[in-house]
Amino acid sequence: MIDAFERLVTPIPGPRSRALAKSLAASEVRGVTYLAPNYPVFWESGDGATITDVDGNRYLDLTGAFGVALTGHGNPAVARAIAEQAARLAHGMGDVHPTAVKVHLLERLASLAPAAGAKSFLCSTGAESIEFALKTAMLVTGEPNVLAFAGGYHGLSYAALEVGGIPKFRKPWQRQLRGTTSFVRFPDPREPKASERALEVVAKTLRKDRSIGAVLVEPILGRAGIRVPPDGFLKGLRAICTERDTLLIVDEIYTGFGRTGTMFACQRENVQPDVLCVGKALGGGFPISAAIASREVADAWAPSDGEALHTSTYLGNPMGCAAALANLDEIERLDVPGLARSRESQLAERLHELKRIDTQIAEVRGRGLLWALELKNPAFARACVVAALGRGLVLLQSGLRGEVLALAPPAMISDVQLERALDLLAMVVRDPVLA
Ligand SMILES: Cc1ncc(COP(=O)(O)O)c(C=O)c1O
Repeated sequence: MIDAFERLVTPIPGPRSRALAKSLAASEVRGVTYLAPNYPVFWESGDGATITDVDGNRYLDLTGAFGVALTGHGNPAVARAIAEQAARLAHGMGDVHPTAVKVHLLERLASLAPAAGAKSFLCSTGAESIEFALKTAMLVTGEPNVLAFAGGYHGLSYAALEVGGIPKFRKPWQRQLRGTTSFVRFPDPREPKASERALEVVAKTLRKDRSIGAVLVEPILGRAGIRVPPDGFLKGLRAICTERDTLLIVDEIYTGFGRTGTMFACQRENVQPDVLCVGKALGGGFPISAAIASREVADAWAPSDGEALHTSTYLGNPMGCAAALANLDEIERLDVPGLARSRESQLAERLHELKRIDTQIAEVRGRGLLWALELKNPAFARACVVAALGRGLVLLQSGLRGEVLALAPPAMISDVQLERALDLLAMVVRDPVLA
């Protein structure tokens, strides 16, 4: 519904959400869904930039559901493509008897990739695409180790955890991790010569450890609180990797498909990764991801002798491929990169204005449709998220200490919806308790 705003019809959470929370507590493994008397609400349906919960309350969404709903919740073209494909063939044998729709998606990804002639590997989650990239690096270079960044987030499966730079996620499984990753600092643009200094450390680390075959980087640290590196950093990494024959794996699972103003964030600096990992927004809500490799790198994989060395049951699932193709059409039709560029100034202006008048805000940073409002403490950020829900706004807490409100709205959010959402945000940040 274009230009729909929030509309609350029960106290938040409403009675149905509360009842579901009780059932969930009894039936889901603990530690997955955060449950509190005032949180969460259970989602029933989505429409563009709004979500309706099981009690009929409607919310404006500034999260894009982890950035996935780039072309809008319940995008009709994506829904139609999934339904049609489901009726025709819901599942194929991805690496044995594939479908035409899988081939069409692979060709489409090749046409979007920064480097010509790219070949892709399809999977279901972001972490899987990272795992494929890591296996590829080993095949290409023969080296097992990886350089990655403190604060980097690449998923929570074991290989993704091995290269993940957020200690909290690693700690309980530390003894099962193999220690194959060297973590270095991600440059902080507030520090002088941040890029040069970070790149020096990268070069030095690569010189010291000859068994590092790949550098893995997010162009903007997402989970660590939308941390944007200084201009030139990614280009510098590319130059170092090229010079030393190290693979550059760019994780665009959060930033991909136009969210930051270019189809891929790395294109802003004309950087061509050796492997580009994408996920989240690709399927418009259907779980599908991909590792897109330059032809030379991809061809390190030998032809299958009848049994793929790396695959999964749902590789190239036809519903996922159909969803992704329809969604990529939508990304093009809506001109998502253009929308992100035009929204950037609206978001920057409003958020910086908020910072000027609110002493609780420590920093505002971001690009395109991906922004962080860093607050002075995590408890305050939590209070804002809960208070926002009570006002009809969905926010996501992020950052290494939970000190950040991460904003990644659907690209098709209308001007007036975005203005309204930012008004609500301003209200809760000014007064979360009373909100
Ligand atoms: C940059 C980045 N990489 C990888 C992942 C992991 O993706 P998934 O949760 O689909 O495994 C995420 C998820 O938030 C992410 O933001």
